[in-house]
Amino acid sequence: MQWAFKLLVAVQALATVVGKGIDANHYGLDTLPSRYLVQFPGEPGSASGIEASKKFYTQLQTLRVPYTITHNYTTLLNAAALTIDGQYIDSLGSLTNAKGTYALRTASVDDDAVGPTEHLTRPPMPMISHNYTGVDRAHSELKLTGQGIKVGILDTGIDLTHPAFGNCFKTAGCPIQYGYDFVGDDFNGTNTPKPGPKPIDNCTPHGTHVAGVVAGNHGVFKGVAPKATLGIYRIMGCEQLTSTEVVLQALEMAYTDGMQVINMSFGVPSGWSLWAEDLAVSALMAKGVYVVAGAGNDGDNTLWAISSPATGELSLAVGAAEIPEYYSLYLNVTANGTTTILSRSDQQRYLPAVNFLNVPVIRGFGASGSDDDDLACEELAVPAKGAVVVVRRGVCDMQTKASFVQKAGGILMIVYNNSTSPLGTPAYDSDTMTLPSFSVENEAGTTLINLLRTGQNATMSVDTSMRVCKNSAVGQPSWYSSWGPAPEGYIKPDLLAPGTNIYSTVPVNMGSYNLLTGTSMATPYVAGAIALMLESNRRGSQQQLLNSFVNTATLLYSSPGVPYSPAQQGNGLINVYNALTATTSMDRFINIATGYLTNMDKNFHKTIELTNHGNTPVTYNFEFLSSAAYSAFTKDKEAAIPPRPAKKYLDSFFHQKKMSANPGSSILNSVAIDPRAFDADQRMVVGGFINVYPAKGTVGVNLTIPFLGYAFEPENVPMLASSYNDIPLPCMSRRSTSEIIPKSGVFTMVGDDFPVIIYRLQAPVARVRVRITKASDPSHIHAAVTENFFSYLSKAMPSGQPYITYAWDGRGYHYNTPSKIIDLPNGSYHLLLSFYMTMNVTNPNTYTSPVITIKRPKKNV
Ligand SMILES: *[C@@H]1O[C@H](CO)[C@@H](O)[C@H](O)[C@H]1NC(C)=O
Ligand SMILES: *[C@@H]1O[C@H](CO)[C@@H](O)[C@H](O)[C@H]1NC(C)=O
Ligand SMILES: *[C@@H]1O[C@H](CO)[C@@H](O)[C@H](O)[C@H]1NC(C)=O
Ligand SMILES: *[C@@H]1O[C@H](CO)[C@@H](O)[C@H](O)[C@H]1NC(C)=O
Ligand SMILES: *[C@@H]1O[C@H](CO)[C@@H](O)[C@H](O)[C@H]1NC(C)=O
Ligand SMILES: *[C@@H]1O[C@H](CO)[C@@H](O)[C@H](O)[C@H]1NC(C)=O
Ligand SMILES: *[C@@H]1O[C@H](CO)[C@@H](O)[C@H](O)[C@H]1NC(C)=O
Ligand SMILES: *[C@@H]1O[C@H](CO)[C@@H](O)[C@H](O)[C@H]1NC(C)=O
Ligand SMILES: *[C@@H]1O[C@H](CO)[C@@H](O)[C@H](O)[C@H]1NC(C)=O
Ligand SMILES: *[C@@H]1O[C@H](CO)[C@@H](O)[C@H](O)[C@H]1NC(C)=O
Ligand SMILES: *[C@@H]1O[C@H](CO)[C@@H](O)[C@H](O)[C@H]1NC(C)=O
Repeated sequence: MQWAFKLLVAVQALATVVGKGIDANHYGLDTLPSRYLVQFPGEPGSASGIEASKKFYTQLQTLRVPYTITHNYTTLLNAAALTIDGQYIDSLGSLTNAKGTYALRTASVDDDAVGPTEHLTRPPMPMISHNYTGVDRAHSELKLTGQGIKVGILDTGIDLTHPAFGNCFKTAGCPIQYGYDFVGDDFNGTNTPKPGPKPIDNCTPHGTHVAGVVAGNHGVFKGVAPKATLGIYRIMGCEQLTSTEVVLQALEMAYTDGMQVINMSFGVPSGWSLWAEDLAVSALMAKGVYVVAGAGNDGDNTLWAISSPATGELSLAVGAAEIPEYYSLYLNVTANGTTTILSRSDQQRYLPAVNFLNVPVIRGFGASGSDDDDLACEELAVPAKGAVVVVRRGVCDMQTKASFVQKAGGILMIVYNNSTSPLGTPAYDSDTMTLPSFSVENEAGTTLINLLRTGQNATMSVDTSMRVCKNSAVGQPSWYSSWGPAPEGYIKPDLLAPGTNIYSTVPVNMGSYNLLTGTSMATPYVAGAIALMLESNRRGSQQQLLNSFVNTATLLYSSPGVPYSPAQQGNGLINVYNALTATTSMDRFINIATGYLTNMDKNFHKTIELTNHGNTPVTYNFEFLSSAAYSAFTKDKEAAIPPRPAKKYLDSFFHQKKMSANPGSSILNSVAIDPRAFDADQRMVVGGFINVYPAKGTVGVNLTIPFLGYAFEPENVPMLASSYNDIPLPCMSRRSTSEIIPKSGVFTMVGDDFPVIIYRLQAPVARVRVRITKASDPSHIHAAVTENFFSYLSKAMPSGQPYITYAWDGRGYHYNTPSKIIDLPNGSYHLLLSFYMTMNVTNPNTYTSPVITIKRPKKNV
């Protein structure tokens, strides 16, 4: 996923660090400079709410803090979007008429779903995933279609001419009855939106694809809720970027339009539930609207990667799971007279369509000719003219491989890699290279290589059609699906839905149908499922209905008897039919509010309530399935990517192993979960599942509740990475020269001559305080630079900025006068940075800078 994090708010200016291995112009925060959401006390739109906001502005004027209001929110939140210099944020914190101040940020779609540039027109085909999620039975047996349910979609818009949505907009009988374009094609999250009445998207496949998953209806192609009514709120233009300010406006309109289910199409990885977006989500949930959000596509980046607003406690966060089959482009390989069908892992991008029937296929061996000499990093030593050439990834870049294959006369390059990480599309200069290419995933690659090793005169047929292929990763959480939990410890994701190779609608000018992959595709699946639930005659509170999806999901196992961690799979793969028909129910999850098993030498006790809504007595067995535990850190306190497993398990004890419940009654059982096998120094995120399954003679489904906790103290989280690209961190540098200053530096604080602190977060951080001590008295806090400016920070993500730079301009304030920001007098100081994993940690991680001597030039008056 590519996030366009380009901006950092720093007190005064931005740092450029051109040191060894540190990239210039990366500032590390996704927030928009000087842009805030301020929330006021009182109900949105109420007289007292408006009064509170007026008082707030009066206070700002009294303090002489300059501001401009860019948007007032009066429906879901009593709040306003303001432009206000970040240095004043500390002073806002003391104002009684501000309930909270939140940074505004940019966000983007989960962009693993890069569309193919080749737009072959494809026909409607059935959604295979319905066969593995119980949606087929919800359609055929329960006759549910989402009829009459309003689903709001915040995304890139839709192709209003697509036949799967009736080729209409707001007319009588049209499935799209609501919608608005908040942004226009050119919006990129920071420029001025150009709104319009119609949410048309002809430049990205994204919004049209996901809308098809919810409610597309065209011949044999049926979304999950094919007769739902849609509201399409376009919050992203062609760049697929948006901003909090726009998202909040769209959520208010979706609410006013009466949307019952809202699918959130944006996210910022490694998010907190205390961001502005999450406030709006919580407000919507409190008003009875169901909000479904994607976990994000950062599955290759250890724990705490989940995107906001999926991090919200009550919203439903959806990750992706692998099902037995999917549509795929494929290869027919004939060796020794037998044909094997292998799926291709990616779409053909960049280059013209290929259509090859029975052409020779060879491995791209170099001079040594040994079995692992198939890298094509040198001239090929095999006759390749007219052949498909299979090469292994690694050692040299794709451009090099492709040029050797093309030079040898190959007609197509297929890249494989026998490691477990999947390959993307081979990337090379498609302007100068005419060779088509694609990659195959590791298992198909292994099969292909084995066929070529032993098969005689192998040939291959490749075309641009798709067919149902076996998915070798069946039963796993998708590799790209982000891991939770939320930084506060909430169990996220909540559940999984199919997200890989999803065949759905794309704009007609892009071929009408195509495959896309990502949690973006899994999320609307669940939005559609909720629409079916609301249409059904199942009754219950919002949380009870959501619980039925979570409790009846199918657990995925990493090895026999050991489920994947709840931090990875939530409660497993959605089973819509079971959720709609289960006659028993339980809680949604067991979670320690703060996430910390603070007292590690004790059992954790929990009461479980099972309710029988059916007409017959039931008897259930109770068991606890410990999942593998994982740490986000190595034993040396560095980030562990992938997370480091422990070969230890939670122990458990149930008060009763088997219990019966009469129709209409609830039973209580209790469980003690014992984390004592874990050593707090190992910083393990522990988890498992309470599985309640029907005893012999009871007809019913398994119900599970996930359990998750932190088997360590927040003080012990190594929030700061010790280096990046071999540069020890945190460190101090001089902005003007980019030199790293190890011991002490003299700064004029004029122009670019000021210090910059560089740090990298390997865990989410609730708060960073920046304070000043005098070099002569380092144990005594002299002044503050910012107490609240940096709060709820994400950890460093591979797709984002590798580190955060913090530039100091020599200014600060004394504690009793936060709005009086002054130039500190010439002298020698240290900056003291304190990092808090939770707001109330007593022993934060700290960093004390080298001595900073301020020597401002004398003014020539
Ligand atoms: C927001 O509301 C204030 C009054 O509280 C008003 O002065 C201002 O013009 C409004 N701004 C916008 C952008 O609507
Ligand atoms: C779903 O399963 C049914 C019954 O096994 C089968 O007939 C149908 O072809 C399957 N649908 C798809 C799209 O694979
Ligand atoms: C957005 O567009 C504006 C104006 O075209 C440009 O100045 C700005 O750099 C762009 N921002 C991003 C994040 O691409
Ligand atoms: C597969 O790709 C990974 C990542 O580039 C690389 O580290 C690994 O060596 C590759 N494996 C092979 C067998 O080429
Ligand atoms: C995978 O690649 C490695 C490194 O080149 C090689 O040693 C190994 O034999 C390969 N395994 C298979 C199954 O091809
Ligand atoms: C193809 O035939 C050869 C020689 O008969 C044999 O060694 C090899 O195992 C066969 N390969 C496959 C894939 O069946
Ligand atoms: C493979 O091709 C060569 C050269 O065309 C031919 O001599 C040989 O008999 C073929 N082998 C098989 C098993 O078809
Ligand atoms: C691949 O083989 C299958 C099964 O025999 C066949 O239906 C399909 O047409 C073949 N595709 C190509 C491109 O040859
Ligand atoms: C639903 O939400 C997911 C994840 O936030 C997003 O990627 C997708 O585009 C959304 N789908 C629709 C139909 O809005
Ligand atoms: C239900 O739980 C039991 C006991 O762990 C297990 O044997 C069974 O496979 C589960 N059923 C399903 C459908 O997961
Ligand atoms: C820390 O804060 C959380 C939530 O703000 C609260 O639930 C918890 O009790 C606090 N812990 C301590 C030790 O103060």
